[in-house]
Amino acid sequence: MKKKIRLKIRRHRPESKTPPSFETFTLTIDADISILDALEMIQSAQEPTLMFRRSCHHSSCGTCGMLINGEERLACVTRISQFKGGTITLEPLPGFPLLGDLAVDMAPLYKDIDERWNYLRGAEDLGGKKLPEGIKRFERFENCIECGCCVSACPVAGEGKPFMGPAALAALNTELQKTTGKGARALLKQAGGERGERLCNRALACSRVCPTAVYPARHILDLRTRLRGDGQGP
Ligand code: SF4
Ligand code: SF4
Ligand code: FES
Repeated sequence: MKKKIRLKIRRHRPESKTPPSFETFTLTIDADISILDALEMIQSAQEPTLMFRRSCHHSSCGTCGMLINGEERLACVTRISQFKGGTITLEPLPGFPLLGDLAVDMAPLYKDIDERWNYLRGAEDLGGKKLPEGIKRFERFENCIECGCCVSACPVAGEGKPFMGPAALAALNTELQKTTGKGARALLKQAGGERGERLCNRALACSRVCPTAVYPARHILDLRTRLRGDGQGP
């Protein structure tokens, strides 16, 4: 069924002297389409200069995170029909440098995620299936798609404190689960450092908004428990 909707989009270019403002676009569309589909329609038919990020269209690449009616969500898997009323407000993720309109620079997210941490791990369940010839084992990616929603929602990160943040601490804890000896001690030291888990106030916003069930707050609690056990806790 077709529905008339308005997308109220925060628009700004950091290099411009024009202050940020909201621009409203009206579309008559199938309410079952995603916010990302609607943005692409606006970009192709109404406003080619509208900036937003996207790639996979199926919650795998993590590029389309934005505030949708004030909450961190992925635009590609959020449907227009999820919202009552005719107007949906879109804003860029707070806590990241703005590139333009809805597009942000994700570089701060990666600052504390060491590129040596291995995001692949052995698949836990092959369902009793035999591996194909020539394949020694299956591996699967970690759930985190590095969308930044947790960092954007975290009140501590939002206060501008030098916090590693929920995504980096979740990645650290995942690496810790695969590490022993000296390497594990170094990771724990990093987690227990001044920028580490001690700054988390357990507001749980990170776990609430994570679209891929990483539950960063649970990882942070794991780290806290382990640090106390190791005598390195706050
Ligand atoms: S639980 Fe910790 S990391 Fe997660 S949002 Fe709250 S303060 Fe931030
Ligand atoms: S932990 Fe979840 S919310 Fe945070 S970056 Fe990864 S996928 Fe996104
Ligand atoms: S476009 Fe890839 S997660 Fe949304």
